[in-house]
Amino acid sequence: MWENVRIHLDDVDGLGTFVELEAVVGSGDGELEAAHEKVARLRSELAIADDALIAVGYSDLLLDGPQALLRAADAAMRNAYAPYSSFKVGAAVRAPSGAIYAGANVENVAYPQGACAEASALGALVAAGESSITAAAVVAEKVERCPPCGGCRQRLAEFGSPETPVYLGRPGAMPYATTLAALLPGSFGRDELDA
Ligand code: THU
Repeated sequence: MWENVRIHLDDVDGLGTFVELEAVVGSGDGELEAAHEKVARLRSELAIADDALIAVGYSDLLLDGPQALLRAADAAMRNAYAPYSSFKVGAAVRAPSGAIYAGANVENVAYPQGACAEASALGALVAAGESSITAAAVVAEKVERCPPCGGCRQRLAEFGSPETPVYLGRPGAMPYATTLAALLPGSFGRDELDA
């Protein structure tokens, strides 16, 4: 608590970690304005930038979590560049800030140069300055449930934790929910590298 502003350090299962500033405001004259100023001061001291703000509460994020990710993955999938396989894939990852980054597969006439949708989504996450994920979703045009390829399981594992949920399905329906650990058991990780 700082001057009637509660500072919550929250770790929300499936979403990530958050700071919440909750000002306790009485009914007196000018109290609301004073509370706004205190929150602004705290935000500035804690270096919480505008783009780190989240417009909705945890329950909205949790309830809509899979669907928002699936919608983003589906939208990206529609833009996939897959003239050789005609197998369009979209992926979306959520950063701890709540922001969602999406990507599609990008094929190439020199086949091995093609990139998977998951790689594109993670590229967008990193380009935006983020370096971890709290959830992921994969959508494909031709199959109800598209399992990420082996390489992409390793790519996703780089940025998530064993418990990070991965949703496979289509927007508007209950997806199949799995985790990074279930997709890639016994994976190579930093512990091995640091040994
Ligand atoms: N593909 C992905 O984008 N992600 C996966 O996890 C599986 C495969 C793409 C790669 C290629 O463009 C097409 O699907 C067919 O393999």
